[in-house]
Amino acid sequence: MNLDERLDNILEGAIPGHVAIIPDGNGRWAHNRGLERTEGHKRGTKRAEDLIEFIAEKLPIEYLTFYTFSTENWSRPDSEVKFLMTLLKDLLGKRGGKLLKNDVRLRVIGDVDGLPDRTAQVVRKTMDKTSSNEGLRLILALNYGGRQEILTAAKELASQVTGGELSSEEITEEIFQSHLYTSGIPDPDLLIRTSGERRLSNFMLWQLAYTEMWITEEFWPSFKPENFLEAISDFQQRERRFGRVDKGKYDQ
Ligand code: IPE
Ligand code: IPE
Ligand code: MG
Repeated sequence: MNLDERLDNILEGAIPGHVAIIPDGNGRWAHNRGLERTEGHKRGTKRAEDLIEFIAEKLPIEYLTFYTFSTENWSRPDSEVKFLMTLLKDLLGKRGGKLLKNDVRLRVIGDVDGLPDRTAQVVRKTMDKTSSNEGLRLILALNYGGRQEILTAAKELASQVTGGELSSEEITEEIFQSHLYTSGIPDPDLLIRTSGERRLSNFMLWQLAYTEMWITEEFWPSFKPENFLEAISDFQQRERRFGRVDKGKYDQ
C-alpha cells in the first residue's frame, strides 16, 4: 500500500483528536552513524517539521503535542543544551512564517520564563503571531515536567484556599485540570514514543491517564509519515474502555 492509499483507509476510521509524541532517539541515531548527537537533533527537527506539515495538510487531527525539552534535560552537557535552545529559536524564527501558512496555531506547555531570553522571546512571538490560526493546534512541551506541572497547580489551589477564595471540598478534577499547563486542551487519545523506550519520562502524568500508547523501535530522525499512519491505524483497532465493561459484549 502506498502512502495515499494508507491515508484513504485511515480517513475512513476514527481519527484521534489529540496525538502526543515523545520523539526520542536523536542521540542514538547519530551515534550509530558516527555523527555528533547534535546532528541527530538537526535531523530530528527536520522530521518534526515534515510531520507537522503532513498532518496539517492531510489529517483532521486537532491537537499535536511534542515533548521537546524536559525539565530533566537541563542536566545534559551545556553544549548540547545550548545547541537545542538555539535550534528551537532558529526553527520558530524561520518556521514561524511557515506555521502561519499552514494555519497552525502554536501553544507552549512548560515554564517559558525559565528558557534563555532569546528563545523565550521567539516562542512568545510565534504564539502571538499564530494566535488567530484555526487549523492544527501544535503544542510544544518546553522546559516541561509533569511533576512540576502538578506541583504548580497544587500550589495555586493551596493559595486560593488560604486566601479564602475556594474551599478544599470544592476542588474537583475539572478545577485541578484548569490549573495545569494544558487547561482547555483535551487529554491525548494516542501517545507515540520512538526509539523503543517504554517509559513516560515525566511527560503529561495527569493527562495520559487513559491514553492509548504506541511504541516503535524507530529512532526519531528515521520516523516518517508512514510510521505515523501505522500508529493511527493501530489506534483504530483498539478498544478503549475507561474502566468500564461494555454492557452485553461479554455476557453469556
Ligand atoms: C530526544 O533524543 C530529543 C531530546 C530529548 C531533546 P535524545 O537526545 O534523548 O536521544 P537519545 O535518547 O540519547 O538517543
Ligand atoms: C524524553 O526523552 C524527553 C524528550 C523527548 C524531550 P529523554 O531522552 O530525556 O528521556 P529518558 O532520559 O530516556 O527517560
Ligand atoms: Mg532520549
